[in-house]
Amino acid sequence: MAKETKDYSKYFDFSDAKIISQDEYGKKIRIRGREINIISEPNHRQEKQRGKESINVLYEDAVPDELKHLGEGKKYIVYTYGCQMNEHDTETIKGLLEQMGYSSTEDRKEADLILLNTCAIRENAEDKVFGELGHLKHLKTEKPDMLLGVCGCMSQEEGVVNRILQKHGFVDMIFGTHNIHRLPQLIKESLFSKEMVVEVWSKEGDIIENLPKKREGMRAWVNIMYGCDKFCTYCIVPFTRGKERSRRPEDVIAEVRELARQGFKEITLLGQNVNAYGKDFTDIHYGFGDLMDDVNKIDIPRIRFTTSHPRDFDDRLIEVLAKRGNLVEHIHLPVQSGNSAVLKKMSRKYTREQYLELVAKIKKAIPDVVLTTDIIVGFPGETDEQFEDTLSLVREVGFDSAYTFIYSPREGTPAAVMEDNVPMEVKKRRLQRLNDTISEYSRGGNEKLRGQIVEVLVEGESKNNDKVLAGRTRTNKLVHFTGSPELVGQFVHVKITDVMTWYIKGDLVTEPMAVESYR
Ligand code: SAH
Ligand code: SF4
Ligand code: F3S
Repeated sequence: MAKETKDYSKYFDFSDAKIISQDEYGKKIRIRGREINIISEPNHRQEKQRGKESINVLYEDAVPDELKHLGEGKKYIVYTYGCQMNEHDTETIKGLLEQMGYSSTEDRKEADLILLNTCAIRENAEDKVFGELGHLKHLKTEKPDMLLGVCGCMSQEEGVVNRILQKHGFVDMIFGTHNIHRLPQLIKESLFSKEMVVEVWSKEGDIIENLPKKREGMRAWVNIMYGCDKFCTYCIVPFTRGKERSRRPEDVIAEVRELARQGFKEITLLGQNVNAYGKDFTDIHYGFGDLMDDVNKIDIPRIRFTTSHPRDFDDRLIEVLAKRGNLVEHIHLPVQSGNSAVLKKMSRKYTREQYLELVAKIKKAIPDVVLTTDIIVGFPGETDEQFEDTLSLVREVGFDSAYTFIYSPREGTPAAVMEDNVPMEVKKRRLQRLNDTISEYSRGGNEKLRGQIVEVLVEGESKNNDKVLAGRTRTNKLVHFTGSPELVGQFVHVKITDVMTWYIKGDLVTEPMAVESYR
């Protein structure tokens, strides 16, 4: 297969970069004395493509026997940035490393391997990683044998990989989101060759099953699908995560059953756009509503999902969620803007009115539902009136909380080249007003719980006071109450006595109560 030759001069002055060799397996280059083995590199054009060919599901045994002892006596740390998808990928990375014999450490001075699992969603997410690389440079100078790797969504970007090659030559490994299962081979390659190894795949992606996962605590994530085909004009994710592809229902259900058997109390089903689940199946008609109906029958106390796209949220799903049981009454439903013209420019493919209609339908079917959302302010050209529409939508829906962001241009996305005449000062003021409005509604939502008895899954001791326990309601609200640490991992009932903006306080109800919400 012929590889494209990339013009590195596009990004930097690579006058001192030399190609040492090049063949169908990749190429070796030298930049300032550092040899770099580029097995494959990101390609923005390819990442944009969505072909018709079907998805391969591969059932891999990712750590071959000869690599099972490579990490013995060695320690690792993985730093994770970004969304739950990335957190869950880190669990896979840790699972692979432990199968190779590595053990974890919290002390970076002790680590033989440090990985940064990165996020590309906004500029400040990337800045954090480059800042961290600056710190790690010193450690790498003190401990040259330590392996340092960069993976995750930033690795899928051409500009990032070139910046690392040019300015952070002390990095040993760069790999992307589609080839996490190749980690054992890549570690071997960089340990033995001492070159920087770069392997990033820009294909649309397969599904790799059977990868080990190191899960902790009582809550578990389960991927139901990968990638995104929505191409919202501001968003980098379709480029970093590939084509929308669903895991087979039998694989998802088997994993949820196994987690139930292991005693996990809560499962979160993950996808960038879970409502599109199953749309890529060519042999069966089976969607997200069907999947939720099936997991509703599994004996696990709570099931959540994230993230929903309003466009594909169908009546079947609403009907299934209304059955409740282990399906909690909390829906994270990103709206992004309350103005239809802005939504159109964002290519969200719904209007303000359609979003509000959907909310009305959901509230009718599940009257005590808690809705949360994501909102971007300062999208290119957003006017004061358009921003006011966002505020009025927030009031109309009454979100219990929201993640709010100032728009951040991402290279290679359509919005990055749209004219933006809104000054940063104005964007910051809008964000402040939006956050003030959300806090008001969050407190209002919490206020409704005063005096009520709620079911809480106890997660641990509160950060600031070890006599206080912290847990979450079915609607994902944080609850603090006094109780014995033995309750961690259990369901209890708490009577709400006091209400703050971002959490609620209560007293443990000691008399036994029937737990209506799960079987
Ligand atoms: N798949 C999810 C969201 C993934 S990204 C969905 O479609 O809802 C999480 C959030 O980051 C988005 O909902 C959006 O609000 C925000 N976001 C994405 N790209 C952004 C950008 N370029 N600038 C600012 N915020 C962004
Ligand atoms: Fe990004 Fe839109 Fe896909 Fe969400 S649905 S990941 S915002 S492109
Ligand atoms: Fe970030 Fe990638 Fe998630 S860009 S938000 S880590 S999918």
